[in-house]
Amino acid sequence: MDAGGRAEIEVRGLRKAFGDHEVLRGIDLEVARGEVVCVIGPSGSGKSTLLRCVNLLEEPTAGRVFVGGTEVTDPDVDIDAVRRRIGMVFQQFNLFPHVTVEENLTLPQRRVLGRDGEAAARVARENLERVGLLEKAAAYPAKLSGGQQQRVAIARALAMDPEVMLFDEPTSALDPELVGDVLAVMRGLAGDGMTMMVVTHEMSFAREVADRVVFMDGGRIVEEGPAEQVVGAPRQARTRDFLTRVLDPAAAAPPGPESAADRADRAP
Ligand SMILES: Nc1ncnc2c1ncn2[C@@H]1O[C@H](COP(=O)(O)OP(=O)(O)OP(=O)(O)O)[C@@H](O)[C@H]1O
Ligand SMILES: [Mg+2]
Repeated sequence: MDAGGRAEIEVRGLRKAFGDHEVLRGIDLEVARGEVVCVIGPSGSGKSTLLRCVNLLEEPTAGRVFVGGTEVTDPDVDIDAVRRRIGMVFQQFNLFPHVTVEENLTLPQRRVLGRDGEAAARVARENLERVGLLEKAAAYPAKLSGGQQQRVAIARALAMDPEVMLFDEPTSALDPELVGDVLAVMRGLAGDGMTMMVVTHEMSFAREVADRVVFMDGGRIVEEGPAEQVVGAPRQARTRDFLTRVLDPAAAAPPGPESAADRADRAP
């Protein structure tokens, strides 16, 4: 936790297994209020599972998770109340296709928060403006580009007044020319002081926006620190291998079917 604030997200000894496959093998992590933490790592390293455990889309096998000081892993917790405080944006935008952009934002506010139509519409329009899409309020999602749909998905999450935002590879389904507008919206949110955990392959975004970068491999945090250190001058060989593959895929050997962690576990 940084000097100024308490931890907004706190993860202690988190483990998650699917059957006998342990996917998270003891994660400890704090995200301070207003901090932006980018999570990077190879496919299968547990990044999505970590985010999904924070908002209880997955039930941890062991360990504790706190959001805003409330233990979300407390068996007596009101899961719906917890989820209301956490905005989540996925690779697939999951907009409702049969209603307009504005209704995509107003319906959850009305149903989950009980806002009346007028208040919900006002909040919807404020947040569409925030992502630069107020003029699309009356459009249907199918008429929007992927990047615009993702910005609507971000606005929809923001309209619920979340305390923290979790992003799981929000730009990886987008054509390259649409990525910038989504990252610009996220950069703006970070500038507004939103607490954010972002799983991303966008290393330039991580370097520019993240207060801290966490590198995961094999269900563990292998390295964490300021972006310029973890991305710019990684200390661990596994981090260096990963960054070589991500930053210059042509130069790297193709990754094998086993994870780097499995190879490391076997090394003499
Ligand atoms: N619901 C599930 N049931 C069984 N295994 C799962 C489930 N969800 C994830 N896994 C396994 O857990 C491991 C970690 O998955 P996870 O999706 O967290 O990885 P990731 O780091 O997000 O990977 P990617 O970069 O490909 O998105 C993988 O081996 C995956 O197959
Ligand atoms: Mg994932």
